[in-house]
Amino acid sequence: MAAPLAPLAPLPAPLALQLTGLDKAFGPPDSRTVALNQADFDARLGELMMLVGPSGCGKTTLLSILTGTLHADAGESNVLGHRLGTLSQAELTRFRREHIGFIFQDFNLIATLSVWENVAVPLLIQGCGRREAEGRARAILAQVGLKGREDEPPKRLSGGQQQRIAIARALVHAPTLIVCDEPTSALDSRTGQQVMELLTSFARDPRRCVIVVSHDPRIYRYADRMAEMEDGRITRVLATPAAIAAAHPSI
Ligand SMILES: Nc1ncnc2c1ncn2[C@@H]1O[C@H](COP(=O)(O)OP(=O)(O)O)[C@@H](O)[C@H]1O
Ligand SMILES: [Mg+2]
Repeated sequence: MAAPLAPLAPLPAPLALQLTGLDKAFGPPDSRTVALNQADFDARLGELMMLVGPSGCGKTTLLSILTGTLHADAGESNVLGHRLGTLSQAELTRFRREHIGFIFQDFNLIATLSVWENVAVPLLIQGCGRREAEGRARAILAQVGLKGREDEPPKRLSGGQQQRIAIARALVHAPTLIVCDEPTSALDSRTGQQVMELLTSFARDPRRCVIVVSHDPRIYRYADRMAEMEDGRITRVLATPAAIAAAHPSI
């Protein structure tokens, strides 16, 4: 009898998005700022992909293009099977509402709404009924550890708790793609770690993809893969946590 076949290495998870050859410049022709210069980037389902690089290297611009809020000057953006360059403005808005959850550096909470109402906003925008939206908002708030705080105004909660409200709001409509722009930069080290643990747990879902932009080495160890960016382009992709640790020994 033939010897059993040696197992192959597992196949990589499917791509959630692939960006190729992106260019983007701002300003008038005589004083242009090049933000992206032939940037290539991809992210897979079931992973936390980190995008790192110094301030001004183009990270936020790249995120704005992959979420369809900004048009690239050149290049291709395929996100969740959609070629963003071919979608109308209305289709892009719908695509964002249905498939993307955003988490910003400064939380962007609405002060006049309660905690649960803030979280319910994406559902209400999608046309979900108020009772159902409230139920789903309260359920996700419990999941991020904010049970009992749902009816308070956000400003009564600490910075870390406010970031968790923002995370609950980004996740409440079960988006495929969760996009975080420097989610821990306004937080102390311990709270930042709690936020990253929460994001990591969502990235373990093989139907989801979490992209985290950062220049904070304290959170590099939460990445499954890491793309390093400099002067508007991706200069290196570290494909495993071991490769990330080897390239950034101080983490
Ligand atoms: N709307 C804009 N108008 C003009 N310049 C911009 C704009 N957005 C970004 N830039 C410039 O593009 C470059 C990349 O910015 P950004 O993507 O915000 O970098 P990062 O997020 O890595 O700090 C910077 O030089 C920045 O000043
Ligand atoms: Mg930025």
